[in-house]
Amino acid sequence: MCGIIGFAGREQAAPILLDGLERMEYRGYDSAGIAVRSATKGLQVKKTKGRLQVLRDLTHDGAELEGTLGIGHTRWATHGEPNDINAHPHVSENGRIALVHNGIIENYLEIKEQLQRHGVTFTSDTDSEVVAQLLEFHYNECHNMLEAVGRVLRRIQGSYAFGIICSDYPNALIAARKDSPLILGFGENGNFIASDVTAIIKHTRDVVYMDDGEIAVVTAENIDVFDSEMNPLEKKHSQVDWDVSAAEKGGYAHFMFKEIMEQPEAIRKTVSPRVREGRVVLDDLRLPAEYVRDISRIFIIACGSSYHVGMVSKYNWERLLRRPVEVCLASEFRYSDPLVDEKSLVVVISQSGETLDTMAAMREAKRLGARTLAIVNVVGSSIAREADDVLYTWAGPEIAVATTKAYSTQLVLMDLVGLYLADLLGTVEKSEYDAILWELQTLPEKLEQVLTHVEDIQYFASRYFNHNSIFFIGRNLDYAMGLEGSLKLKEISYIHSEAYASGELKHGTISLIEPGTLVVALGTYAALFDKSMSNVVEVKARGAEVLAVTTERFREKMEKTADSTVVVPDTHPILQPSLGVVPLQLFAYYVALQRGCDIDKPRNLAKSVTVE
Ligand code: F6R
Repeated sequence: MCGIIGFAGREQAAPILLDGLERMEYRGYDSAGIAVRSATKGLQVKKTKGRLQVLRDLTHDGAELEGTLGIGHTRWATHGEPNDINAHPHVSENGRIALVHNGIIENYLEIKEQLQRHGVTFTSDTDSEVVAQLLEFHYNECHNMLEAVGRVLRRIQGSYAFGIICSDYPNALIAARKDSPLILGFGENGNFIASDVTAIIKHTRDVVYMDDGEIAVVTAENIDVFDSEMNPLEKKHSQVDWDVSAAEKGGYAHFMFKEIMEQPEAIRKTVSPRVREGRVVLDDLRLPAEYVRDISRIFIIACGSSYHVGMVSKYNWERLLRRPVEVCLASEFRYSDPLVDEKSLVVVISQSGETLDTMAAMREAKRLGARTLAIVNVVGSSIAREADDVLYTWAGPEIAVATTKAYSTQLVLMDLVGLYLADLLGTVEKSEYDAILWELQTLPEKLEQVLTHVEDIQYFASRYFNHNSIFFIGRNLDYAMGLEGSLKLKEISYIHSEAYASGELKHGTISLIEPGTLVVALGTYAALFDKSMSNVVEVKARGAEVLAVTTERFREKMEKTADSTVVVPDTHPILQPSLGVVPLQLFAYYVALQRGCDIDKPRNLAKSVTVE
């Protein structure tokens, strides 16, 4: 949520900043800005409402701003509407200090009022401007930028990643973080700060992940990192193991479509290294066997699509582990006085590894004594580093705001972990274990088959894109999968949509079914197929138009009732959502395309939600 980049180097900064912001635009796209400093022109700031292209046009692709030191920001508004003034960078009253900020300053109003009493005038509605003005206030007192930053950090409450430049310091930018990601990058022609590796991967793979409370001084030659007491720190460098092409569209019209098509390969990368000689091998998992045997309860905590993975996993893990599994929305969990203790295993699922709600829930679980296992995609992210154990999904960078390949890899990784734990507990028959593991390995080929039929789904989307309310129904795993199908559709096509457990329809929702209502009926879960069919017949009897997703095994039965049917290959029942969800992703994609929506950057959304 919001993207930050900063550069101190031996090349013109503005084009580098603009390129980095473009790669990070998925983190927020309601306004953008850059500030660059040069010896002759001093601090130059350009910022504007709208997409990055507007900023590009305004600055003639950066040519308007001169200097080799600069910061940039792409915004997802929290405090203050998206407009030119509220866009970052924010500049202090005397024009000497420019700052970009991710996160939320909780006590900004109090500080603002105090500064106003000292005669400071504010131009924006943001919490971030308050920090720029407070910095100037302290800088005027101590005449030392680093000292001023230290004083500000001690005064503010909330979450932040900052990039700061000051016209008195021609060669250095200052960065600081707390609860909002910030990475330092070491390049040949200069050094970087960024909220996201994607922004700087073109220039370097040599990075350092900043930790909470740290401050960095970045120059063209060097990066020095300090703790909150200004003691110098030696930080461990990491090498990013993917390159720039992974974060580019590569000929596809949209990142979302590219990422849907990448799913077979992504699943292969998640599964293959973790299967050896017919067994699940999780080298990175350090859960002691005695601990696993003692687990009384499992909590799966996540948000959005990651939560939907949790819903699928609840069914699968309870079946495999014979232990109670509770799935919790992270934003609810932390305030619900949860019944977590030392015998609880808490699994948090997050693509970005930065979702604030999930992070806070994980901290609460740790405080209550639980052991935490994180299922994360972004390597080195905050959740990954704070969890007791982390398993990476290795899906590669996911740029589209609507998740697809991250969801799919989370699903299979949860299946692998479930199988691993069930084996440790002795709660799974060998034949069942072997069958699931075998099918997990064949999923990529089966997915490839599903993806050879994209035109069928494109056709169905062209038939149904004009509906303004769509229901997804299914039982058990199909219900969990429907939740994801419905979310995908509403977030990118803006069609109202709900997912219901089929059996629940008759308890109220069926009153909404009228002639012509589109119902997407999911009938892939073999054990309850006949029951699901009865519900399909019920909605048909009330005039619904039914688009069904089923498996080869049930094709004939489904085709007799549904108006349109999408068929996916059969696999082990617990893995069926991994195949069934793909037509739903494609359906959402093509419907959004037909409706002319901005697929990769849906309105009001941004990837990586780092506010509460
Ligand atoms: C939907 C989507 C969101 C995320 C949610 C959690 O397509 O992407 O619902 O799943 O914001 O994000 P992570 O997984 O990064 O914690």
